[in-house]
Amino acid sequence: MKIAFFDTKPYDKPGFEKYGAVYGIKFKFFESMLNEDTVELAKGADAVCVFVNDSVNAAVIDKLHEMGVGIVALRCAGYNNVDLKHAFGKVHVVHVPVYSAYAVAEHAMALLLTSIRRIHKAYIRTRDFNFSLNGLTGFDLHGKTIGIIGAGKIGRVMANICRGFGMHVIAYDKYPSGEDIEFVELDQLLKNSDIISLHCPLTKDTYHLIDEKRINKMKKGVVILNTSRGALIDAEALLAGIKARQVGAACLDVYEEESDVFFNDNSGHILDDDTLARLISMPNVIVTSHQAFLTNEALENIAEITTENLLEFQKSGMCKNELCYHCGKDEKCKAERMKKCF
Ligand code: NAI
Repeated sequence: MKIAFFDTKPYDKPGFEKYGAVYGIKFKFFESMLNEDTVELAKGADAVCVFVNDSVNAAVIDKLHEMGVGIVALRCAGYNNVDLKHAFGKVHVVHVPVYSAYAVAEHAMALLLTSIRRIHKAYIRTRDFNFSLNGLTGFDLHGKTIGIIGAGKIGRVMANICRGFGMHVIAYDKYPSGEDIEFVELDQLLKNSDIISLHCPLTKDTYHLIDEKRINKMKKGVVILNTSRGALIDAEALLAGIKARQVGAACLDVYEEESDVFFNDNSGHILDDDTLARLISMPNVIVTSHQAFLTNEALENIAEITTENLLEFQKSGMCKNELCYHCGKDEKCKAERMKKCF
């Protein structure tokens, strides 16, 4: 099998080279992201392997189909960058549903602690032999309420971590399940949480879930964590909330317009995105560059599961990690009858 691997970073290669050698899969690594301009690079490949900011829109799908590329293998869990409806009948789409919920939840907690204990400020000070503590006062997490939006795999790991700190955990989920977490309505969560952490997927429903109206329903001084997807938050509204002192701090591992800037070294360049530049300039905002997934364990799992997804497809024409627009919803998907979606 030949795989065109887009948006390659140095940390991607070792795992994929290792599993590629084991399973006889040949990865051709490209630094470019997949989009209408770069899709031709996939000519001659059986599949493309893509990440969160590659664009698998209708035009790209049509071109892949025309070139005989049959599979889009996402090396991530989220798939909001893929037009699944358009892909049906043309290219199969597979993803890595779980690789390390711990990686993401632990990063969310790392951001929270860094922010509220001002570690990012203290680190810079002591490197400059400035040992003053003025302005570094934080607050205890113990006894505080965290509201988790999206109590799935990552949200639940985050809940457990927070319980370890003696926090009160509440959650809102569109599809609440299980009794191990206290579910509340969204408005109740917004009103009662000292900290709000986003762990739901980006869908039509959740686009700008955190907007001006909802920010104004939050507790004054709320800390907002987003390690899920940038467009869950209306960044302009967040900036306004920070300026108005309604939002006490924000920790963002994702940003709506991240695809143009994240993952790349832009130092020495002028940042065109004024909203991002203004957010980064705030003393109470921490931005990391979609880094939450980046642990050795997660990278290993991503490479292993993606390679297995491709192998499964090669062997049987189907895969348990296929994302199908029609699955379980209507007659168009043949998975029930033929053990494959189309
Ligand atoms: P999951 O599918 O286990 O959990 C998502 C939860 O959100 C589910 O319980 C679901 O019912 C809930 N949900 C769906 N629609 C909702 C809505 N409208 N309102 C409230 N809740 C809703 O997914 P998992 O593995 O926990 O991942 C969550 C998200 O984390 C992913 O969608 C992805 O966007 C993001 N992620 C970010 C990474 C990073 O490096 N920053 C890495 C991996 C995932």
